[in-house]
Amino acid sequence: MKTVLRSISASHPDQADIAAAAAHIAAGDLVAMPTETVYGLAADAHNPAAVARIFAAKGRPTTDPLIVHIADVGQLADVATDFPPAFALLAETFWPGPLTILLPRHPALSTQITAGFDTVAVRMPAHPVALALIRASRTPLVAPSANLFSHPSPTTGMHVMHDLDGRIAMVLDAGPCRIGVESTIVDITQSPARILRQGDVSAEQLSTVLGEVHIVTRTLAASQAAPAPGMLLKHYAPRTPLMLLRGDSAAVRRTVLDAHAQKRIIWLCYAEDEAFAGMQGIDTMCLGAATDGAQIARSLFAALRAADAEGYALIVIAEPQGEGVAAAVRDRLYRAAEGVVHTLA
Ligand code: TXA
Ligand code: MG
Repeated sequence: MKTVLRSISASHPDQADIAAAAAHIAAGDLVAMPTETVYGLAADAHNPAAVARIFAAKGRPTTDPLIVHIADVGQLADVATDFPPAFALLAETFWPGPLTILLPRHPALSTQITAGFDTVAVRMPAHPVALALIRASRTPLVAPSANLFSHPSPTTGMHVMHDLDGRIAMVLDAGPCRIGVESTIVDITQSPARILRQGDVSAEQLSTVLGEVHIVTRTLAASQAAPAPGMLLKHYAPRTPLMLLRGDSAAVRRTVLDAHAQKRIIWLCYAEDEAFAGMQGIDTMCLGAATDGAQIARSLFAALRAADAEGYALIVIAEPQGEGVAAAVRDRLYRAAEGVVHTLA
């Protein structure tokens, strides 16, 4: 299949391009669309053949359920049911935005989307292109991240092309994603509510609406049998081995120097470390200032992909400090490092 790569304005999407993309959706084909978090691979939620194509194109196991994307809460009528009391206020507070909410599945919704579970994940993305495509398609769109299974999520149209060129009908390229890590997932079908994936909407923000909120730490290795959805530890892994460091700046620098003496490494560093790395002749990619969690989140997946493409023996990265989206970055790094953190004295 020839994949059409179409540039589109993020703020004022061209209606002819949206109509062309919606025609692909209506035909049961797949369109990669930008969202504020990462690019999603969209298909008509009510077309079983199209939904099956998503799993095939990504190489994704059918045991991993999909998020249903809507442009209007009215679109949930035949998607979810028995809405928990907290839903309305959550949706009002955080939608459109980077929050995915687990609700009881409507009996009419295919269990192919929910991988047989009786909950469904739903989200209203805060991106004019995604919202325009959902509206023009006149149907909710299921959309996982538009990467090959276990690759880092795509934050640019070129990342999508790298993984899926020839496998999907179209990529709507609106430039880099504003947030850069996937949405927060909260399960409100249980009490207290549980955060299944951390993202830009923090636990602190959610607790202002929900009261007590638990963060579920999901750490199963791929070899363990029958993991629940999204629990795979190795989920964001680059092919190059990744060494994740936890410690103060001096200890991190010592460890990076040691590694540099032994191997061809690349250091995904913070702005504060660039001059030091330059003096030592260490290759770097800068993620942003150490305290700028938002910038680090925006840079992370692109840097992992770029570093991975260069054939280094080792990628070294230190955990960012701080709360909010920095916590989501630590979670993604933990998975990329397959759960191994080097805690430095
Ligand atoms: O930011 C995002 O959420 C992006 C953009 C495209 O919207 N989408 C995304 O989708 O990250 P995906 O499929 O890559 O990740 C969705 C996660 C998976 O880990 C899946 O297991 C989990 O959501 N999930 C979906 N439905 C679920 C359910 N019913 N119960 C538990 N987890 C669920
Ligand atoms: Mg994904």
